Amino acid sequence: MKLFDVYPLNDITIVKAKGSYVWDDKGEQYLDLYGGHAVISIGHTHPHYVERITNQLNKVGFYSNSIHIPLQEELADKLGKLSGKTDYQLFLCNSGAEANENALKLASFFTGRKKIIAFKKSFHGRTSLAVAATDNPNIVAPVNQTENIIFLPFNDAEALENCFKQEGDKIAAVIIEGIQGVGGIHIAQDAFLRQIRSLCDQYGAVYIADSVQCGYGRSGKFFSHDYAGVNADIYSMAKGMGNGFPVGGIMIAPHIPPKHFMLGTTFGGNHLACAAALAVVEVITSDNLMANALTIGNRLMQGLSEIKQLENVRGRGLMIGFDVPEKIKDLKKRCLPTRRFSPARLNLMSSAYFLHCH
Ligand SMILES: Cc1ncc(COP(=O)(O)O)c(C=O)c1O
Repeated sequence: MKLFDVYPLNDITIVKAKGSYVWDDKGEQYLDLYGGHAVISIGHTHPHYVERITNQLNKVGFYSNSIHIPLQEELADKLGKLSGKTDYQLFLCNSGAEANENALKLASFFTGRKKIIAFKKSFHGRTSLAVAATDNPNIVAPVNQTENIIFLPFNDAEALENCFKQEGDKIAAVIIEGIQGVGGIHIAQDAFLRQIRSLCDQYGAVYIADSVQCGYGRSGKFFSHDYAGVNADIYSMAKGMGNGFPVGGIMIAPHIPPKHFMLGTTFGGNHLACAAALAVVEVITSDNLMANALTIGNRLMQGLSEIKQLENVRGRGLMIGFDVPEKIKDLKKRCLPTRRFSPARLNLMSSAYFLHCH
């Protein structure tokens, strides 16, 4: 059997990883600015992370949500404190798409409504409703197409207001990334997020903050949406949450009540996943990584702004993008070693999200 070929690959095989560095099978070292689709939040093979998972694996790796799993409560408690949302409720799953799928479904259950507002250039995942709310027709299969999603221009206050005026009583939720990732590192304006908050309050809709990529401390605040100074009703999380272990979740405001069997999962919140997620929360806290993301991110953005070939350097903390002019559009490729380029310089695993060509 061969692999189903859905990804164009960089010709690299990574065999070792530590902190911010990875090494390939030829002994080449890379500074990893990519973090494997923006996943590595506390560095590769962090000793506390390795120890937490190893110890847990030696006790019990998995049991389902049919029993008490105190590790889930410990995670909810520590995550509540780290994010500042101590009164929220945690539901655990396995990926970002699943987190958004559950967030959207929950909003519909809660409001009894069907329509979702999403934004141009959004990416929310590949499961049926999450992909329907993703602004990329190429990844929406015919079966996923639905009239329940309304796409509006990003950061357009007037369009949002008009949409609520026309369809406000049908809107279950507004879903928005605090910083659009796949769409090209575009920051949702603070005033726009505040407007979403007040329109959702006015019309009884649910504000869903997709924090799968821009969350988990990467922006310098736990959720990049926090810069706006208002709370969302549901935050979706994944990527950095497990530092590579597949774990996702949603944090749900206290006014949204749970009901038995409305959401569920076999693997979500299993013992090993909780151990991984706990290790991440503990390291972010003990090593002050959110403040670090802000300091290093500001320094990096300052340095990038001084390179005159780079345009529109933008971002928050360590979620950074810039545009490159046509004549250096292969910059990303040149950061990786190939026979054509000198192997002596520093190799960069540069992020598709980090470098945006036009
Ligand atoms: C903002 C955002 N939401 C959701 C997802 C989907 O996450 P996953 O690939 O874990 O399903 C992604 C993945 O890139 C993302 O960037």
